[in-house]
Amino acid sequence: MNCHTGIDLYKRAKKIIPGGTQLLSKRPELFLPGQWPAYYSKCNGVEVSDLDGNEFIDMSICGVGACILGYADPDVDRAVKNAIDSGTMCTLNCPEEVELAELLCELHPWADMVRFARGGGEAMSVAVRIARAATGRDRVAFCGYHGWHDWYLAANLADDSNLDGQLLPGLAPAGIPRSLQATAIPFNYNQPESLDAIVDEDEQKPAAIVMEPVRHSEPEAGFLEYVRETADRTGAVLIFDEVTSGWRMNNGGIHLLYGVNPDIAVFAKGISNGYPMAALIGCSPVMEAAQRSFISSTYWTEKIGPAAALATIRKMMSCNVPEYLNRTGISIRKIWRDNARKYGIKAMIHGIPPLSVLSFKYEDMSQALHTLFTQEMLNRGFLASKAFYATYVHNEEHINAYEKAVEEVFKIIADTINENSPDVYLKGPVAHNGFKRLA
Ligand SMILES: Cc1ncc(COP(=O)(O)O)c(C=O)c1O
Repeated sequence: MNCHTGIDLYKRAKKIIPGGTQLLSKRPELFLPGQWPAYYSKCNGVEVSDLDGNEFIDMSICGVGACILGYADPDVDRAVKNAIDSGTMCTLNCPEEVELAELLCELHPWADMVRFARGGGEAMSVAVRIARAATGRDRVAFCGYHGWHDWYLAANLADDSNLDGQLLPGLAPAGIPRSLQATAIPFNYNQPESLDAIVDEDEQKPAAIVMEPVRHSEPEAGFLEYVRETADRTGAVLIFDEVTSGWRMNNGGIHLLYGVNPDIAVFAKGISNGYPMAALIGCSPVMEAAQRSFISSTYWTEKIGPAAALATIRKMMSCNVPEYLNRTGISIRKIWRDNARKYGIKAMIHGIPPLSVLSFKYEDMSQALHTLFTQEMLNRGFLASKAFYATYVHNEEHINAYEKAVEEVFKIIADTINENSPDVYLKGPVAHNGFKRLA
């Protein structure tokens, strides 16, 4: 497989774009350094063409989780084209944002008010600002990954490994004011005592408790309820980051399935099928605090985002998309599990079925094995990594073809493990695992 045009373009990009791309998760180094096609010319459904005319089936993170309905969904694109034809930016506001706000509150009856932004990290920053404005406090207790903004990376001012257990290791706090030290303090998922340590052992109660309700593991019985009670007891605003977890298992935030409501929930990627859109929904006593802070941006008012979100949400609801994602995720997990068993490979599977993650358990060799998986799957026509994000357009044919390829590749992985020889099979360097400065 020759992907040289994309590989060469990425070399040029690294000279002129610091970090090579605008999103860490799209760096080729995270998949297959020196071999990953890097750029696409066209994508449709789950089919992706690179710059050399190679065609792949995307069985990886499918637009970093942003395209639940598949690339270039015709219904969403039609709504966007209509929005374009009627003018996307105006001195007046677009009515779609009111319609969208009402729809989100209908789906989440605990919420009364909505604000919009366009990116997930950006919307999380707005949520934290509102929580600080509502409580008059500074400190934030958090768990998990929430974007690139100062409030979050401040956690690493205290100890530069603070964020390591929180999804993306190695995030450096360079450029974050030192005065923010001790304003963001991590706790661990499913460990109530780690939250207690933050909220009880300090005079200053937190402004907010911020977390994804579910990501790599399910909440243990009573954990989300305990976090809710802790927020109530300490007067903190509970913020659920549903940027990735929302709209996968059910229509709306996954918290609806657990019966624990936050004070603010934040949605982004999943709600608008590849068009920039983010929403914060919340109960009015907290959300009203947005009026006491200045939170305002020109492009939060354009029409494409709300039009895309309305079309995406309506389609997800009318086609019962989450049920399909769940079933597809379960099929992929079975393929991984059956083949790991067949070839005696030690592997673990994490996450909810629509956001499944496979990890090989071979200590120092694990990352080389993940890289080898990506390399061999690419040679067989798949964009594949240790994560599989299900979409509404992954069909039986894709799954069957993927199964056949996984079977062949797991055999190679088993041979590699038995011979302790990743270097023999790998044609390039091992993929990065997290944030690293690029050479
Ligand atoms: C849970 C969570 N929060 C926040 C973000 C940041 O969203 P964005 O990349 O749109 O800024 C992400 C992105 O991966 C996410 O998964």
